[in-house]
Amino acid sequence: MPGPSSGTGSLKVHDDIGETSAVAPQPVLAGVSAGREIAPRSRTGQAAAEEHTVVLTDVAIAYGKFTAVRNFSLSVQKGSFVTLLGPSGCGKTTILRAIAGLVDIADGEISIGGRRVDDVPINKRNIGLVFQNYALFPHKSVFDNVAFGLKYRNVAKPEIKRRVGKALEMVRLPGSEKKLPSQLSGGQQQRIALARAIVFEPTVLLLDEPLSALDANMREEMRIEIKKIQKATGITAIFVTHDQEEALSMSDQIVVMNAGVVEQIGSPEQVYESPASAFVADFLGKANVLPGVVASVDGLVATINLSAGQTVRALSPRAMPAGEHVAVVVRPQKLVVGSTTAGNRLSGRVVSTSYLGSSAVYEIDIGQDTTIRANTILNGGIMREGDAVDVGFEPGGCVLLDDAGRRIV
Ligand SMILES: Nc1ncnc2c1ncn2[C@@H]1O[C@H](COP(=O)(O)OP(=O)(O)OP(=O)(O)O)[C@@H](O)[C@H]1O
Ligand SMILES: [Mg+2]
Repeated sequence: MPGPSSGTGSLKVHDDIGETSAVAPQPVLAGVSAGREIAPRSRTGQAAAEEHTVVLTDVAIAYGKFTAVRNFSLSVQKGSFVTLLGPSGCGKTTILRAIAGLVDIADGEISIGGRRVDDVPINKRNIGLVFQNYALFPHKSVFDNVAFGLKYRNVAKPEIKRRVGKALEMVRLPGSEKKLPSQLSGGQQQRIALARAIVFEPTVLLLDEPLSALDANMREEMRIEIKKIQKATGITAIFVTHDQEEALSMSDQIVVMNAGVVEQIGSPEQVYESPASAFVADFLGKANVLPGVVASVDGLVATINLSAGQTVRALSPRAMPAGEHVAVVVRPQKLVVGSTTAGNRLSGRVVSTSYLGSSAVYEIDIGQDTTIRANTILNGGIMREGDAVDVGFEPGGCVLLDDAGRRIV
């Protein structure tokens, strides 16, 4: 995380690691958290639940005149796994920086463990950090890397040894204490970075795209690993990714961000099945968004003339007047290729086929330069470019957006 934070006073305190800062500036952040000052754990009931929650209220963060994040509010329950998901530049890292105390907020407030931390320096926030680039000290052994945060707090030597051993067991690298980072694979280095971040039992673990430097197989393995460790330790985790699959498979809650603002916060099912906007629908799973106009309404079933020239029926959560501009959002998986029985039928021509073994993804031209995507399990022959095809979907299998691209509720 390069940025304006690298010159903050809080970092200068730790001159002993200055020599490695050009290679790995981040370990300072993961290691220096000073323990329990901000979160006494003796209270009970509601107060205790609140203590261990990260809460951001109407937060704005600016770099000079550029406001990178606006009106950002989020409440992270103790022990939950929350993911910030969004395209490059939408402000995900900026939010983590603000939680960690690496960047000042221009507006709003942040609390960790029930206490407002706006003026609490990085080293008092008790935060574990894991980054994309591992950020291990290259000349220190695995033991010294993992022990860093504990030594900083003057934990007794035998206890450091015990805790480092336990953390290495947890990341499934027991006995690797004497190795150097260069003797480990990328995945193993990232496990060490994770061990270093959890060894001092932080109040919250922040993970900024920790899997993106790994190859596909290792990514999937680490995904499962991180989830297991988070569950086993009960640690509260805020995870950043722009990979929708990672977000869907790992999270209790997903915060979908776009250009510095929250588009939607919800469970993986909520954001996938009921996207709040065209942006969310498209970002999570490349949904088909078909603009049209309401032709007539029968109860809560609207008949919609699509701009593509065909007509469909869609279940609407509220009554809608004829003439209202809407968009019908339907997932590629909800389109049944070759269906003649579904409530809606769209006719078109295959423009491209991606064969994926057990399934295929078709791009289908349904007229007026409109292409839809259908993802279908193959149990017969495969369609080829130029083939005429009907696709079906049920009126209840879609979501309706209003003129502004927001879900109609
Ligand atoms: N130090 C900085 N100075 C000025 N602008 C910055 C700085 N750091 C980030 N920004 C800008 O703030 C916005 C949000 O950046 P941020 O790093 O939070 O995005 P991100 O969502 O983490 O993106 P990515 O997925 O690429 O990591 C971007 O427009 C970025 O250019
Ligand atoms: Mg980032």
